[in-house]
Amino acid sequence: MSKLFSPIRIGAIDLSHRVVLAPLTRMRAALPGNAPNDLMATYYGQRASEGGLLITEATFISATGNGGYASPGIVTDAQVAGWRKVVDAVHAKGASIMLQLWHVGRQSHVDLQPNGQAPVAPSAIQADVRALLPGGPATGSMPREIELSEIPGLVGEYRRAAERAKEAGFDGVEIHGANGYLIDQFLQDNSNRREDAYGGSVENRARFLLDVVEGVKSVWGSDRVGVRVGPGNRFGGMGDSAPEVTFPYVARALAPFGLAYLHVIEPRVTGNVSDDDKPPVAAGLLRPLFGGPVIAAGGFDGAGAESILEKGDADLVAFGRHFLANPDFPERLRRSLPLNAYDRTTFYYGGDKGYADYPVYES
Ligand SMILES: Cc1cc2nc3c(=O)[nH]c(=O)nc-3n(C[C@H](O)[C@H](O)[C@H](O)COP(=O)(O)O)c2cc1C
Repeated sequence: MSKLFSPIRIGAIDLSHRVVLAPLTRMRAALPGNAPNDLMATYYGQRASEGGLLITEATFISATGNGGYASPGIVTDAQVAGWRKVVDAVHAKGASIMLQLWHVGRQSHVDLQPNGQAPVAPSAIQADVRALLPGGPATGSMPREIELSEIPGLVGEYRRAAERAKEAGFDGVEIHGANGYLIDQFLQDNSNRREDAYGGSVENRARFLLDVVEGVKSVWGSDRVGVRVGPGNRFGGMGDSAPEVTFPYVARALAPFGLAYLHVIEPRVTGNVSDDDKPPVAAGLLRPLFGGPVIAAGGFDGAGAESILEKGDADLVAFGRHFLANPDFPERLRRSLPLNAYDRTTFYYGGDKGYADYPVYES
């Protein structure tokens, strides 16, 4: 009996299978305005299946949090209306959808910032990261250190975005704490040199994430909030002197919130490239500490997914590259059908090509 295709309840959400669409930035929002368009509604609708779970692409919570010129936001009325169409298309197929809340911190660029200002970060440390600009990827700009007095305002931006996600009809939100974005910049010590209550000890470095969880929970209730972390993740010039301390601390600190799930990217993945020969290690380490449902992600195929569920190291598995290339991915897994290959050249930018034009399986 397949574990992947057995039902599960995560927080307040009932699912009939455990094949999750991983959050995938695709840079297809309408410009100007960064609102989700009809093509995005088609794309997400294609990937929805009865009782399945989709997580949206990273979606900026404020103009200063954006890292991709054609990424969608959840700030303006037009963005909320665009997301409403996406949500409706997904719900029409009987699936649930969470919005991924995103602030990129230092992974932005002055060209993406209001008034060309410097992006904000826990510390003024520039990283060799690529912001996605109209002309192509460019190194992120030198950030400005966030003032202590600005932190409640930033947390408020997450809370406001969570409210707007509710207006758009989502089933919940996922807080993006991975891949070297703002929350991860606080968590890992090579990007956080602060000497106040938000830097130094792991307790202090995790404080921003926990403040955000508290804020978002006040909008949704904890059973409709998930958190994504990337232990040992180096994407975006990241690094931590003791990831084996930092991330277990985070999992334990999140436990009392009773969240819908913890979403763990395996360290074998860096950004969108993975060394699939390495076994998964992080989900299994954090799951007993977190004590709630864990979604594992990074380098999984059907067999790898069954195996981690079978071992009890995860409860669900999120798929990125395979799912973007196979709109009917859960069905293909269930029936062991061959997969479409993904085209890396159309991951970001562009329109329909390599986006909503991947075919479903036809016998
Ligand atoms: C095109 C692309 C865009 C991505 N965008 C995001 C994103 O917006 N948010 C996020 O948390 N992870 C993002 N990721 C990482 C994926 O969610 C996932 O962790 C990664 O692809 C590894 O899973 P896979 O081996 O199944 O592809 C992206 C990956 C790819 C390939």
